[in-house]
Amino acid sequence: MILIYFYLMVRLSYGLCKFSNERQFQNSILKIHNDYDTPLQFNITDNYARFFALGDWGGIPIFPYRTIVQQNVALFMHNVSKNMNVHFQLGLGDNFYFDGVKSVDDKRFKLSFEDVFLDQEIPWFFILGNHDYLGNPHAQIEYTERSKRWILPNYNYSISVNINQGKNKLIYILMIDTVLLSQETEFRDRSNKVKTLNVTDHKKNDYFQEIEETLKKISLEKYPYVIVAGHYPVWSVSEHGPTKILVDKLRPLLHKYKVNAYFAGHEHDMEHLSHTYMNSTVEYIITGIANLPYYSTEHLNDVPKDSLKYYWADIFQIHGALALVEADLNAMNITYIKTNGEKLYQIKIKNKF
Ligand SMILES: *[C@@H]1O[C@H](CO)[C@@H](O)[C@H](O)[C@H]1NC(C)=O
Ligand SMILES: *[C@@H]1O[C@H](CO)[C@@H](O)[C@H](O)[C@H]1NC(C)=O
Ligand SMILES: *[C@@H]1O[C@H](CO)[C@@H](O)[C@H](O)[C@H]1NC(C)=O
Ligand SMILES: *[C@@H]1O[C@H](CO)[C@@H](O)[C@H](O)[C@H]1NC(C)=O
Ligand SMILES: *[C@@H]1O[C@H](CO)[C@@H](O)[C@H](O)[C@H]1NC(C)=O
Ligand SMILES: *[C@@H]1O[C@H](CO)[C@@H](O)[C@H](O)[C@H]1NC(C)=O
Repeated sequence: MILIYFYLMVRLSYGLCKFSNERQFQNSILKIHNDYDTPLQFNITDNYARFFALGDWGGIPIFPYRTIVQQNVALFMHNVSKNMNVHFQLGLGDNFYFDGVKSVDDKRFKLSFEDVFLDQEIPWFFILGNHDYLGNPHAQIEYTERSKRWILPNYNYSISVNINQGKNKLIYILMIDTVLLSQETEFRDRSNKVKTLNVTDHKKNDYFQEIEETLKKISLEKYPYVIVAGHYPVWSVSEHGPTKILVDKLRPLLHKYKVNAYFAGHEHDMEHLSHTYMNSTVEYIITGIANLPYYSTEHLNDVPKDSLKYYWADIFQIHGALALVEADLNAMNITYIKTNGEKLYQIKIKNKF
């Protein structure tokens, strides 16, 4: 009876206002809406939060619609979540190779996502990558209404991760659309045609200003950890290198408002760069080896001196890697793990307060 009532309430709120509803998962409850100024509320039952972060995971457009690396990543995640509570996942863009999806009915949602990742009871928080913009990016937002675990209520949004049933704030995560923000909004499709999103400089400046206002407001709210996540990296030593507009305009904000870590994909490897600037250290995490591995250190000299702490990619293995984040009120541990279970590397961040 209560379940039926709950179901009706959810259906009703779908009808009244797009994306305003509550979703109950195994060890958490999520309140979702598309009001940019208010974070999604994600209350975890436990006194800690555990999540995976992975970018560039999105399969291939031909049979079997997944790569062996993606398959191994999915099986590894499934195995971990069978053995311990995993509360959520951050999907850092390039959700569908190579040209995104065409519509909310595109079969790729099933073939490269639903059929590959087996845990229905763990929500995914997504952002869009450049490959997603080669298709219909809005269709991926609409899919939030079709799948309980697919969460992408807007091009950008934020999440308040709370533990102990919502009693304690733990992590504030700001998900930003770096494809819209970047000068590299010019990118090429498979026929090498340039794709332009026509975001004016004026509009980009407005976006950066909004990010600043958000981070300023959040810095007063005493979250133990603040994370910003985008598809394009700020710093990277690999194929694409640093993203200039993010280095110029986002990086000062990350340091000024004492963000702990910036998570990105785009490069198909694992990187950690740590940089202290304006008296604050930001950990730059790249986790993009969940589908199509690629090794490159082409931009080794384009990052701050001594900032590169870790690099891993191996194109000859069937294993990918991803970041496993475990946080409680004492510390946030970020572990880079290969899908055979081997721990590659660990970063520890202390609670700010
Ligand atoms: C699954 O996890 C268990 C326990 O952590 C581990 O012993 C086992 O090797 C894993 N299996 C695979 C296929 O990763
Ligand atoms: C999360 O917890 C807070 C604090 O207990 C509570 O006010 C809020 O309603 C909870 N949200 C959800 C979606 O359960
Ligand atoms: C971007 O602007 C150019 C020139 O004004 C136009 O030809 C093109 O169609 C626009 N692209 C999009 C995606 O709106
Ligand atoms: C975020 O999305 C909202 C709604 O689409 C938009 O108004 C805002 O400009 C965007 N901000 C950023 C920082 O991308
Ligand atoms: C930088 O941080 C140190 C240690 O917290 C502090 O003593 C110093 O005053 C800070 N300097 C500036 C310029 O904020
Ligand atoms: C982080 O790692 C330390 C050991 O280095 C461990 O004692 C602590 O429990 C870990 N924290 C979480 C939240 O897993």
